Amino acid sequence: MSRRILIAGNWKMHGLRSDLGFFDALAVHAGKSNAEVLVCPPSTLLSAAAERCAGTAIRLGGQDCHTGATGAHTGDVAAVMLHDAGARYVILGHSERRSDHAESSSLVCAKAGAALSAGLTPIVCVGETREQREAGEAFDIVAAQLGGSLPAATGSGIVIAYEPVWAIGTGLTASASDVARMHAFIRTRLPEPATTRVLYGGSVKPGNAAELMALDDVDGALVGGASLDIDAFASIIATAG
Ligand code: 13P
Repeated sequence: MSRRILIAGNWKMHGLRSDLGFFDALAVHAGKSNAEVLVCPPSTLLSAAAERCAGTAIRLGGQDCHTGATGAHTGDVAAVMLHDAGARYVILGHSERRSDHAESSSLVCAKAGAALSAGLTPIVCVGETREQREAGEAFDIVAAQLGGSLPAATGSGIVIAYEPVWAIGTGLTASASDVARMHAFIRTRLPEPATTRVLYGGSVKPGNAAELMALDDVDGALVGGASLDIDAFASIIATAG
């Protein structure tokens, strides 16, 4: 079964209203790509980005959400609010949230449930640290994160992103053979393996995207730094044809 390539940009804590012109340029590339093109800007920009992207092929997503729909949770954003602002996806369990905010897989699982209920597609991130890889634990760690982070009834309405922590923002990328092995392993752990997209993330750049995207079990990329540069992001999108 064919899975449509998803090229997703994670802007992390970058982006002001003065950057919204990025979407006008991106719309041209998204409109002629075979890939689904997604940008996850900071939540402050979602509404304005949604207005800017109306009528284009660009999809928008959040970078995190709360487990609840409303309530006394100062500073948090509900999945339904992201949807209301124009998001259709939400990144969950990113390693920066697992480390900066001590997020556990069970919390990620509850957030994924909230996202699905709000009509958002969760992009659930998993990945091992350098120490865990060197200790030979990468597959066990990823299996445990998947086992703990995916709600029971996700069907194929979920996306997985394999992001080895040591490759994020470092310029280091996992080798194509390591990525191929891990993605094939991840697929064996999914409830709907044939239809669930598994993205790779971690220093994806124009120079390595084509090799990574050509791998059988890689269904797209979750791009950090290079998604802030229209030329770099456009050439990563172009690898999908
Ligand atoms: P970089 O592409 O900057 O390494 O970031 C990857 C990432 O964390 C995407 O979520």
